[in-house]
Amino acid sequence: MRVRKKKHLDERLLSVGDIMINAENPERNYLIANENKDYIDLKKIFRVDNPLYLEIGCGKGRFCIEYAKRNRDINILAVEVEPNVIVSACENAKSENLDNLFFLRTSAEFLPRFLRDNSVSRIFLNFSCPYPKKRYASHRLTSEKFLKIYKNLLKSGGEIHQKTDNKAFFEYSIESFSQNGFLLKDISLDLHNSDFEGNIVTEYEKRFTDEGLPIMRLVAVNKK
Ligand SMILES: C[S@@+](CC[C@H](N)C(=O)[O-])C[C@H]1O[C@@H](n2cnc3c(N)ncnc32)[C@H](O)[C@@H]1O
Repeated sequence: MRVRKKKHLDERLLSVGDIMINAENPERNYLIANENKDYIDLKKIFRVDNPLYLEIGCGKGRFCIEYAKRNRDINILAVEVEPNVIVSACENAKSENLDNLFFLRTSAEFLPRFLRDNSVSRIFLNFSCPYPKKRYASHRLTSEKFLKIYKNLLKSGGEIHQKTDNKAFFEYSIESFSQNGFLLKDISLDLHNSDFEGNIVTEYEKRFTDEGLPIMRLVAVNKK
């Protein structure tokens, strides 16, 4: 049963190979992997030299697809570690024929392997896993380890836009951003009842909103 499932996934991954970069990343140690650079040729895939935005942990792609449709002058690279999830995102994107959206199958730890320093203008972190247990704090996408990576990738003045439903994770992120050279702005504790315009509701956002949970948002600016 498992083998058939895997075969099916492999076939699906193959069929979206034109919009998904890096099918495999066998190296487990991110420090070693990041020394072996395998930079994506952004000019080749996007063809135009527009600002590059990342969505890290894009899930099934609802946010990045809609963002790409609304912002044709932005190049978007959607990053996701789970193959069965990113394959759905790619399948959802395919029918839209978007030339400003590509997908990178990797974990955020490995981003420096694929992208040059100072190449990214914005990063979206939408409903990243909060990893509430302290012993898994380093897995949080706003922990010091990741913020150091983002800081190098981001241009000076580049921004991280974060949304979450989880208050403890939001507070943790605020502290982490502040301690790691980011300037905070546009903090909202109830995004859907704020004057923020143009919000794109993600899969998880819809789920949490249906449960009546307030959505929190912030923008962290890279001070270099
Ligand atoms: C809670 S889901 C949110 C999905 C989507 N952003 C949304 O708002 O609906 C978090 C996603 O982040 C992905 N993820 C977690 N850690 C990651 C990492 N280190 N690198 C890339 N993706 C990661 C998970 O596989 C999962 O799909």
